[in-house]
Amino acid sequence: MEFYKAQKNNRLFEEFVEPRISKYGKIFKTSLMGSPTVVVNGAEANKFILSNEFKLVISSWPSSSVQLMGRNSIMEKQGDQHRCLRGLVASCFSSSGMETLVPKICSTVQSHLDKNWHGKDTISLYRSTKLLTFTIVFECLLGINVEPEMLDIFERVLEGAFAPPVNFPGSKFSRAKKARVEIAKMLAKIVDEKRNEMENNSEGEGEGKGGSMLLSRFVAAMIQGDITEEEVIDNVVLLVFAAHDTTSFAIAMTFKMLALHQDCYNLLLQEHADITSNQRTEENLTVEDVKKMEYTWQAARESMRLFPPIFGSFRKAVADIECEGFTIPKGWKVLWTAYGTHYDGEYFQDPQRFDPSRFEEFVPPYVFVPFGGGPRLCAGYQLAKLNILIFVHHVVTRYDWSLIYPNESITMDPLPFPSQGMPIKISPKLSRDI
Ligand code: HEM
Repeated sequence: MEFYKAQKNNRLFEEFVEPRISKYGKIFKTSLMGSPTVVVNGAEANKFILSNEFKLVISSWPSSSVQLMGRNSIMEKQGDQHRCLRGLVASCFSSSGMETLVPKICSTVQSHLDKNWHGKDTISLYRSTKLLTFTIVFECLLGINVEPEMLDIFERVLEGAFAPPVNFPGSKFSRAKKARVEIAKMLAKIVDEKRNEMENNSEGEGEGKGGSMLLSRFVAAMIQGDITEEEVIDNVVLLVFAAHDTTSFAIAMTFKMLALHQDCYNLLLQEHADITSNQRTEENLTVEDVKKMEYTWQAARESMRLFPPIFGSFRKAVADIECEGFTIPKGWKVLWTAYGTHYDGEYFQDPQRFDPSRFEEFVPPYVFVPFGGGPRLCAGYQLAKLNILIFVHHVVTRYDWSLIYPNESITMDPLPFPSQGMPIKISPKLSRDI
C-alpha cells in the first residue's frame, strides 16, 4: 500500500525506498502486489541482478503488459530468440544506420514543428513529444507511414498495460485488448504487403535484400524462417510501448530543468549556436553535428538521473540467490531501482542538485541506469538519444519558450508524467542566430 501511495505522489524514493534503506540497508525485503519482493539498490546489486539475467533471474512483467504486448515480444524472450530480435534492432544503429537515421529524424522533427507548433503560442510539450516519438518510431525506425487514427488506437493499448487484467466490458484492460486486436489486424496487413513487395523485388530497398528500415529487416528474417509473423507484430507493438512515454518524459524533464537553470540553458544555447553557425543553410544535421551536442546530452542525462522515466523494473529469481549476504529464495520477485544509485551521495555528490557538468567525469558502470543494464539494456537507447538531441536542437534554435507552470507536479501511473502535460509558451525566434 505504502509503495503505491508513494508512487502515485512521485515520492517513491523519499517515502518508500529511502526510509527502508536507512532502516534495513540497501537490500530489503517487502511485499508488493501480494508477492514477496526483495528491493535492491546500489551499483553492486544493480550489476549482480542485471548482469545475471537468464542465469539467476528473468524479467517479470505484469500479466496485463504481457497480454497486450504479446507473448512473442522481446521482453518475454530468452536465449537465441532474444539475441536474434536484439540483433535485428541493433542493426538499425550501425554507423550506416545512424547516417540514415539522423536526416530522417531531422526532417520528421522539422515537419512536426511546422505542422503542430507553427502559428501557436501555447503547446503541451508532453503531448507534442508523444506524437513526435510515435512518428519517429514508425516512420524513421520501422519505415511504416503513420495514419491519422493510429496514435489513438495505440494509446488505448498502452493505457491498459499496467491496469488490472480484468476483462469486464468498459474496463481499461478490455478496451486495450480490443484496440490490440485492431492493431494486430492493421499490422498483419502491413507485414503482408511488405512481404509481397520484398518477394517480388529481389533488389530490396537499399542495404542488401532486407532494406535498411526495421520492418524490412523483420520481414526479411521472417522470409528466412528466423522469426514468425506474430513475432514481427508483437515486437512492433513492444517498441512503441518502450519508446512512447519514456522518451517524451525525458524530453519534458530536460526542458523543465533547463527552464529552471538559466545558466545551464545559456551553455546549451551556445552549443547549438556553434552548430548552426557551421551548418550550410537549411540543411539537415549530420551525425557529426549530433556528436557535438555533448553538453545537451549531459543536461538530458542529468534530467534522467533526477527523473528516471523508468524507476526500475521487476525480475523473478529462478534459483536461490546470494546477493551481498542476503538470500533471495527461488520464485521471489526482485526490484532493481534507478533511485538507489541516482540519489546516493556516494555516487553523485549533492545528489539533489541539477548539474549537467557532473557527466564530464567518468561514471562507473551500473551507477547511472535510466536505460537499465546487462542483456536487457534498453535496445532503443540510440534512438532515444537522437530523438532527444535533435528535438532540443530544432526547438531552441527556432523558438523562445517558457514553462506555464514551473511547479507542475509529476504523477506516476506507474510511469511518470507531468500532471498537466507541461504546457509551454512559445514564440518564433526572429533570427536563427539564437
Ligand atoms: C528515454 C527513453 C528511454 C528510456 C529511459 C528507456 C529505458 C529502458 C529500460 C530501463 C529498459 C530495461 C528494462 C528492464 O531492465 O527490465 C529498457 C528496455 C527496452 N527498451 Fe528502452 N527506454 C527508452 C527508449 C526506448 C526506445 C526509443 C526504444 C525503441 C524504439 C526502446 C526499446 C526498448 C526495448 C526493446 C527494451 C527491451 C530490451 C530487452 O528486453 O532486451 N526504449 N528501456
